[in-house]
Amino acid sequence: MSVKITDSITWVGKVDWILRHFHGHELSTHRGSTYNSYLVRDEKNALIDTAWTPYANEYVEMLTKEIDLQDIDFIVANHSEADHSGALAELMKRIPDKPVYCSKNGAKMLKAQMHQDWNFQIVKTGDKLDLGKKQLIFVEAPMLHWPDSMFCYLTEEGVLFSNDAFGQHYATEVHFNDLVDRDELFQEAIKYYANILTPFSRLVPKKIDEFVNFKVPLNYICPSHGVIWRDNPMQIVEKYIEWADNYQENQVTILYDTMWNSTKKMSEAIARGLHNYDPSMKIKLYNLVVSDKNDVITEIFKSKAILVGSSTINKGILSAVAAILEEIKGLGFKNKKAAAFGSYGWSGESVGIVNDRLKEAGFEVLGDGLKCLWNPDEEIVSQCEAFGENLLK
Ligand code: FEO
Repeated sequence: MSVKITDSITWVGKVDWILRHFHGHELSTHRGSTYNSYLVRDEKNALIDTAWTPYANEYVEMLTKEIDLQDIDFIVANHSEADHSGALAELMKRIPDKPVYCSKNGAKMLKAQMHQDWNFQIVKTGDKLDLGKKQLIFVEAPMLHWPDSMFCYLTEEGVLFSNDAFGQHYATEVHFNDLVDRDELFQEAIKYYANILTPFSRLVPKKIDEFVNFKVPLNYICPSHGVIWRDNPMQIVEKYIEWADNYQENQVTILYDTMWNSTKKMSEAIARGLHNYDPSMKIKLYNLVVSDKNDVITEIFKSKAILVGSSTINKGILSAVAAILEEIKGLGFKNKKAAAFGSYGWSGESVGIVNDRLKEAGFEVLGDGLKCLWNPDEEIVSQCEAFGENLLK
């Protein structure tokens, strides 16, 4: 069902209530998502982005109820990733000659994914598309989060179509930020930032400055996922500036896996020590095999330090720990401290390996870590507590 956003903009996207995994199984989406597509009506009509491939037919059928497809004059593809361009292929079967406005990389990437030579119109920052009374102004946003990513801005109504930026995987039928649960919304927004945008944080303030320097009114931000920001849209921009600036709270997150609970006992004793050091500090403890990795990454994003624990197995580390360390390396967190701990039976390599991986991932590793032979006794438990208590002193 379409939703009127402003006098000229209609939301024509898809709410996906059942989505629980995105990017294959790389990203959990506990609250589903939306694929936001926008129809802008003026003397000429523009369609901005589409929906994910499995919904292609449903999307096009719904769109035909909103507008005669022949009356769409321009299609804007802000981003070629399949969740926004998947339904474009189905749409273009019906209107194959319509111009598709995208960045230079967008054209390359759409061609590579769709294997179609549509009527691509390459645009760059500052280029304008005249719709009649209003114009769309394009703003390239490479690596936010793909090389092809682009925003566009609708004059007169002051609307920024920001594609993935400022989005959230958050299914809702009400569509506007002032109508949803604020805690849920910001939980999804920070999870989205932490898991998708962290590697590109240095680009975020630059892009925001560039847009602010246009000195144009901003009444709405219409991202391609989740709610439309109409109530104080700058609030999410301000959050992005904060998150991009090596964000951290007074929080330490402990993540571990364990075989016979020795490393678990260590983690709990370390948590007690951390609490003794600073009772006001948030301390979060995750056994990685029973935790959602993207939720854990969100907590790492919020932390000033992390502790990573693994038993030693086959001269190495447990696979769940190895997996999260690989994720952390790719995300490129900055300005965070870390330490390793773990139990072992004979060879005891795990702590050294975790330390190396943490250094490789750009963390400031505090000390050599803490090892425990077999099951921690009272003395080792006390050492773990002291380790936690002294770590950040
Ligand atoms: Fe929502 Fe990068 O796709």
